[in-house]
Amino acid sequence: QTRPEGQVAWEAPSNIALIKYWGKRDNQIPENPSLSFTLSNCKTITTLSYKKKTSEADFSFEVFLDGNKQDDFKPKIQTFFERVLPYVPFLKDYHFTIETKNTFPHSSGIASSASGMSALALCLMSIEKTLVSDPIQDSYFNQKASFLARLGSGSACRSIEGDIVVWGENEVVSGSTNLFGVKYPYAVHDIFKSYQDTILLVDKGEKQVSSTVGHNLMHNHPYANNRFKQAHKNLESLKTILETGNLDAFNALVESEALTLHAMMLTSMPYFILMKPNTLQVINAIWAFRQKTGLPISFTLDAGANVHVLYPERDAAPIMAFINKDLRKFCQNEQFISDQIGFGANRI
Ligand code: PMV
Repeated sequence: QTRPEGQVAWEAPSNIALIKYWGKRDNQIPENPSLSFTLSNCKTITTLSYKKKTSEADFSFEVFLDGNKQDDFKPKIQTFFERVLPYVPFLKDYHFTIETKNTFPHSSGIASSASGMSALALCLMSIEKTLVSDPIQDSYFNQKASFLARLGSGSACRSIEGDIVVWGENEVVSGSTNLFGVKYPYAVHDIFKSYQDTILLVDKGEKQVSSTVGHNLMHNHPYANNRFKQAHKNLESLKTILETGNLDAFNALVESEALTLHAMMLTSMPYFILMKPNTLQVINAIWAFRQKTGLPISFTLDAGANVHVLYPERDAAPIMAFINKDLRKFCQNEQFISDQIGFGANRI
């Protein structure tokens, strides 16, 4: 019962790594394990329409962002299609229209690759379910979606499920693998169940160095091996922290991870700097505020200048007052995004 055409839609969230993935081998295999909070408000919503293909090209598709044709997304999607083809061979037989939009402002400097690639992977999985006579069992649906998403953008494999996801083989989390993200299986203190992430948009420009280039600079990097080892150790420490809710230890660990990520950029050859002066202003203001008030606020960074401010929901009132009064001025157009830990992708 193959259907000649149809449409599916998914919304998938972004995620923020606490233990950072930086460095990979062939086929999107990470050099170290990473762990992330799935986000809730920063999402990509993707509709994928398919119909039997008429053209001769290997892959036939078009991409729209917010209703506008977006040809500059095509190379990344072409690469993604080439990589996933062995696992979803129906890709060759159909023409696809990809219509996508993000809940966060376009070119806010918030990477949409994690949410975008996971939404697209989930759409392919739903199509597999309708088109293929022997689709993967429902119990493996998310696993395969994460596996496909990984081939689009490594960190995207952590955007299928919530609320905490681990990717990359390690001795701390049983069932962990390099091939897809797994839901964190151990006890988590209640304080983390509604953790807040206020994303300060310090710089909304395109980053000067892509994450692909950055990952590759970890080959022959003088500190790479120690960094990879450290990620394993940090994951082990984080397991205890997540269980006990020790926020002092949590803050120290996530800030160290963020600064280590950027230290790897500073010490690669060629070296590069993705933080901006205002990134450092924000970090110093957070430290001063934490020192003064004793409130458990901390920051983490992605591969960019924006700052993710992390704190428990119970302390939201004084911390939001601080953000509005003292941090907002360091953001472009005073813009920030209020987000929190979330529970994964949804079919719509
Ligand atoms: O998924 P990629 O290849 O864009 O790499 C992203 C890596 C970081 O965001 C910097 C860290 C992480 O673990 O998400």
